[in-house]
Amino acid sequence: MDAAMFADMMAGIEKTLKPYQEGFAKYDYLPEKGMDREEILELMEQFKDMEASKWKEGFISGAVYHGNEAYIDFMNRVYAINSQSNPLHPEIWPSTSKFEAEVVAMTANMLSADRTSDEIVGTVTSGGTESILLAMKTYRDWARETKDITEPEIIAPTTAHAAFTKAGDYFGIKVVRIPVGADFRADVPATWEAINENTIALVGSAPPFPHGIVDPIEELSELARQHELGFHTDACLGGFILPWAEKLGYTVPPFDFRLPGVTSISVDTHKYGYAAKGTSVVLYRGAELRHFQYFSVTDWPGGFYVSPTFAGSRSGALSAVAWAAMVSLGEKGYLDTAKRILETTAWLKREMREIPDIDMIGDPLFMVTFQSKSLNVYQIMEYMTERNWDLSGLHLPPSAHLCITLRHTQEGVKERFLEDFTEAVKYVKEHPEASEGMGPIYGMAAAIETRGMVKSVFNWFMDLLYTV
Ligand SMILES: Cc1ncc(COP(=O)(O)O)c(C=O)c1O
Repeated sequence: MDAAMFADMMAGIEKTLKPYQEGFAKYDYLPEKGMDREEILELMEQFKDMEASKWKEGFISGAVYHGNEAYIDFMNRVYAINSQSNPLHPEIWPSTSKFEAEVVAMTANMLSADRTSDEIVGTVTSGGTESILLAMKTYRDWARETKDITEPEIIAPTTAHAAFTKAGDYFGIKVVRIPVGADFRADVPATWEAINENTIALVGSAPPFPHGIVDPIEELSELARQHELGFHTDACLGGFILPWAEKLGYTVPPFDFRLPGVTSISVDTHKYGYAAKGTSVVLYRGAELRHFQYFSVTDWPGGFYVSPTFAGSRSGALSAVAWAAMVSLGEKGYLDTAKRILETTAWLKREMREIPDIDMIGDPLFMVTFQSKSLNVYQIMEYMTERNWDLSGLHLPPSAHLCITLRHTQEGVKERFLEDFTEAVKYVKEHPEASEGMGPIYGMAAAIETRGMVKSVFNWFMDLLYTV
């Protein structure tokens, strides 16, 4: 990485952190005497005011999926009532067990579990990444015990979330990544060719994070079924909106438990489920499979120990919030919010398709994703950043997206986005020499010979976040 580029990137990140690091009292040692509670609350309010306008006014992609003030107040009250609860101790907080069991059951039924059987089971987790990690660990242990596979492999499209690579790294699973087709969907014949005697599971997403286009889950899961493999649908992003899109009459490719080959699904309550950050659900076809996720130990002096997920103690309050979100919204609430999001997306896609030099990628239901043959999309992103917008930059190929949430359905937001975006495209066309923002970083990150260097920059970045 060249020094100027590195300095540029560093300066950008430091500029964001600086007001927080320098503008307020620093605590790198415990204060001798505790700080006044009112003062702490004032400080928190100040930080909130500095940060909230961007997401509240709909300038960011994804991240805050609901964000209505009164709704947040309600979630906060639910959290406060349950703040001491810990699902590790069901004997003390049986209500938390009830909440978690019902969150799992409601989610399973939303994803077409057979209501007359209890075949589809699952657990509450801390987020999409944990749901994916747990599912991959489960398949590893299942394949070891039932098939004697000691060098496990999973096959996933390149677009499946980075958490699958993380799972491979953590659990000693080889992750075979298959390039997606020209339509940005998983390549079924190439997946078939990659299956070997060490394959334990196949993966597809509904939809993947980058372009929002649902994989051919029906074909992939059938391939898995024929080979007696696990099949995981990653519906972290789409799981709480696609079922409602389908009910509203949109075309949604099948991805859930209606497909007999689908043996697990990850689905995030903390995205379009509209719960507070910190919960997701992982579902399995069959209690036996879920047993491979659990951990127990009987020879520890601390007593018998058993936990369903990675954490030991965890927040029961977040599970209560997820439950409260689901039962307070109900089917009608999810249908109404989905309708607004899908209509906003459709409007934006239609308008953006008219902009010269911009190529919209596919037809995602709740995302607008674009690339360009003639312009540098990272320059467009850079211009949008100057206008306060926070788009998600993508690479391989260079592109960017705005993931549509309820925040974008507020009056005037989509029009403001279109206006700024149109100007951004015009500006970049007229000033191709403008700063490329993250462009070169993406370019370099994609080049094999510099990946090691980029990794050390990422290490530096993580270290910076923990610098007082
Ligand atoms: C498709 C998909 N899977 C998994 C994840 C990971 O979720 P989390 O950030 O909650 O760990 C995301 C996050 O955006 C996602 O879009």
